[in-house]
Amino acid sequence: MKDNLMEKIVSLCKRRGFVFPTSEIYGGLISSYDYGPVGAALIRNIRNLWWKEFIERRDDMVGLDSQIILHPRTWEASGHVANFNEPMIEDKKTNKRYRADHLIENWIKDKEQFADLVVENFTFEEMGKFIIDNKVKSPEGNDLSSPKKFNQLFNTSIGVIEDAKFEVYLRGETAQGIFSDFKNILDSTRIKFPFGVGQIGKSFRNEITTGQFVFRTLEFEQAEIEYFFDPEVSDWEKLMDEWKLQMISFVTKVLGIKNENLRWRRHTDKERSHYSKDTYDLDYNYPFGWKELWGIAYRTDYDLKQHAQFSGVELNYRDPITNKVFIPHVIEPAVGINRLFFITLCDAYTEEGDRIFLKFNPKIAPYKVAVFPLVANKPELVSKARRIYEDLKEKLVVTWDDRGNIGKRYYSQDEIGTPWCVTVDYQTLEDETVTVRDRDTATQIRMPISDLDSYFQNKLK
Ligand code: GAP
Repeated sequence: MKDNLMEKIVSLCKRRGFVFPTSEIYGGLISSYDYGPVGAALIRNIRNLWWKEFIERRDDMVGLDSQIILHPRTWEASGHVANFNEPMIEDKKTNKRYRADHLIENWIKDKEQFADLVVENFTFEEMGKFIIDNKVKSPEGNDLSSPKKFNQLFNTSIGVIEDAKFEVYLRGETAQGIFSDFKNILDSTRIKFPFGVGQIGKSFRNEITTGQFVFRTLEFEQAEIEYFFDPEVSDWEKLMDEWKLQMISFVTKVLGIKNENLRWRRHTDKERSHYSKDTYDLDYNYPFGWKELWGIAYRTDYDLKQHAQFSGVELNYRDPITNKVFIPHVIEPAVGINRLFFITLCDAYTEEGDRIFLKFNPKIAPYKVAVFPLVANKPELVSKARRIYEDLKEKLVVTWDDRGNIGKRYYSQDEIGTPWCVTVDYQTLEDETVTVRDRDTATQIRMPISDLDSYFQNKLK
């Protein structure tokens, strides 16, 4: 099934309203996708669960919502202007551009002699040498240029008068808003170390590699945490281990992802970002193989020091009791909400005989319950079902369907992953009971209408 799982998921996403290609009527826009009616509901559930788990439920965390366009000096201080580069390579004949590391990774995929090669470790020069030594060609079979640095930051400008315009960037990570607001957060809250600041928001990267559905897009949503601590009091390795457990627990227990599809991978010295002393990726086994889902890095005091230097504002902390002054260090767990969305689809996609269903954890399912009248042309059944639907809607996200026959309705609810379908039939009119069909077993039970709410609330606990 894994072979064409990607096509099946992409096709289901379009058919049922999870994901559409952006601006499709104009032929689409590269690596850009919109979230349709059920996709928007699913991604909102994931975003809300992240916020609840990592901000609301914890005493040591606060939230933030900073801007997409920050002062441009931010990106000089953070090192993104100088270092946020990917190796770009060109097909000499077609002028098509590729990311050199991704191109080499694909080229060595089925070649046993390169099984142990870690392309992430290659410098730009080593990639160029590998391509020449091994006569690597473009996917079209043509010669390739040598890799060049390509900065991923998107830029635009502020100002109405041509001469007075100044260049700004769309943020490449949400993290920098947290660092530049660090002093305001400290001054406006009574939070004590260690503590974290989390935010969810759009980030933008001019990606060279395209065609990986919502895995890698130009515009995406990050959920990032900067967890600040005094390195003389807290042990960074211990903090990192604790955060790794929380990340796994969120993915498996809250989102319901299977453990066997997850693994940890430590970054090698060469591949680590310029700001990090140690980095791990929580990888997921996507339809196209193991790739990063969620990263965790020990960013030390790199960012606060850089911003203090570039802005001239001291970004340290004076302990009001001991008077000790220090620059906090940070552990950063950073994930893309769109990748969390994608793995819930990959993990939930199930085929049993002719039946296709999305076995979502009910907590993240776009709709929890669907309500139907057995047939749409019997007013008594429709009005009874409508009342049940209106009642349940006060407490749960519920959908209504009275199109086609009951089999077709089950089929479509299965494909959007609705855990339960309630059907009002002729017996309902006699004894106030309905059938409740379970998505995963396709079996039905009969129960009184008055029990429905507590039945679903218990299941959703
Ligand atoms: N602040 C650290 C940082 O940005 P990163 O590993 O570059 O680290 C963090 O990004 C997470 O953001 C990744 O683990 C991934 O989930 C997500 N992400 C990064 N680039 C993405 C893209 N182009 N499309 C979708 N998600 C992306």
